[in-house]
Amino acid sequence: MADAIAIHLVNAEILQADHPDSAAWCQASGFSGEVGTLCLVPDAAGKIGKVLVGSSDSVDVWTLAALPKTLPAGTYALANKFSDSNATKLYLGWQLGSYSFDRYKLTKVGLLATLEAPENADLTYVKAATEATYLVRDLVTTPANNMGPDQLEETARNLADRYEAKIAVIAGGDLVVENYPMIFAVGKASTRAPRLIDMRWGNPDAPSITLVGKGVCFDSGGLDIKSAAGMRLMKKDMGGAAQVLGLAQMIMEIGLPVSLRVLVAAVENSIAGNALRPLDILTSRKGTTIEIGNTDAEGRLVLADALWEASSEDPDLLIDCATLTGAARVALGTELPAFFCNDEQVTATLLKVGQTADDPLWNLPLHNAYRSMLDSPVADMNNIANGSYGGSITAALFLQEFIQPDIPWIHVDLMAYNLRSLPGRPEGGDAMGMRALFELIKQRVA
Ligand code: BES
Ligand code: ZN
Ligand code: ZN
Repeated sequence: MADAIAIHLVNAEILQADHPDSAAWCQASGFSGEVGTLCLVPDAAGKIGKVLVGSSDSVDVWTLAALPKTLPAGTYALANKFSDSNATKLYLGWQLGSYSFDRYKLTKVGLLATLEAPENADLTYVKAATEATYLVRDLVTTPANNMGPDQLEETARNLADRYEAKIAVIAGGDLVVENYPMIFAVGKASTRAPRLIDMRWGNPDAPSITLVGKGVCFDSGGLDIKSAAGMRLMKKDMGGAAQVLGLAQMIMEIGLPVSLRVLVAAVENSIAGNALRPLDILTSRKGTTIEIGNTDAEGRLVLADALWEASSEDPDLLIDCATLTGAARVALGTELPAFFCNDEQVTATLLKVGQTADDPLWNLPLHNAYRSMLDSPVADMNNIANGSYGGSITAALFLQEFIQPDIPWIHVDLMAYNLRSLPGRPEGGDAMGMRALFELIKQRVA
């Protein structure tokens, strides 16, 4: 569009060299090209003539992500030329920065500044990554009264419809019949029936990827009830499920050549007369017995049954995502997801693509020496470790018991929620590590 307003990325030198006509205005308005600042420069008619954005030489996804909501509504276009990958990043950041959650607001968010797509940006990727991220944000931010196991199922069914995937759901008492005892036990005290959602898509002869998500739609802690402060955000305890649904949507939208299976254990960890109790002993789908040291360590229980099922088909890659432990947040903070992996090469790749996709994850060890902390005097294993240190590691070691050791496996322990707003990442639910995982899968099937 000819009347789009040009956005120039500048630093102090480029500002001097390329924008001498704007020097007086920039000086008067205190703009020197510093990173993270911007300057609207008027034209002769008093309209916005151009926008100058202070930027370093290395741009990332977030470089322009604050602009959709800071610039006046209108159409903008990038004046600089960028590499294909940088053009894609900048355009993606703009889209991610255009998100608002206004489902419950009478007054909806109005028109925002829009960016013309740079001609060399990968629009298919940007669309897929944007829609998937919006899906994750919507799912996680939606409060638990409108996002129960039933709504997670509905979301998966909508995806299956849209991409012609097959879907099967085992719910309520059928979980017992079909031998998912721990998914049933965790979810049985809720008025909203627990369920296992099982979606398949793609070419059965292509490399097989299985995604498993923790879909605890609200985690009260169960009878080992959380404190008010600890419970407050627990609508987000289905963030792992949301992230694997978003990742699946990306894979299907882009059409990666894979045989995809998605397993979501969707439950609500509630309190009632029939709730799971401390020191109950469950028999897992695997057949081993689990003593319940704490009903608040419910995520690993539902994941265990789903992972054992996932393992039974020997996928080429198995990934689970879960808001599994507070301990992972103590270790890395809320914005950096932890991952555990039993394959060195996969680990190295995930670290690398996390950096290149501006979607980093940090590796923590499956330190087998801690495995004995999960020993139980009366059952094959306890669901919590004795001792209060290394909680994200012992949780990962618990999960590892339900994986066949020869299957490359990644376990992501994420927050799925922004406690503060950053450019392109508003406070609220969010995907964390999803684009990195997509890149990893893409590289492995290329
Ligand atoms: N959903 C929580 C983990 C969580 C808490 C993630 C806060 C992010 C922020 C999980 O089900 C849980 O309660 N885990 C307990 C385990 C403990 C009882 C061994 C935890 O991390 O405290
Ligand atoms: Zn819990
Ligand atoms: Zn939980």
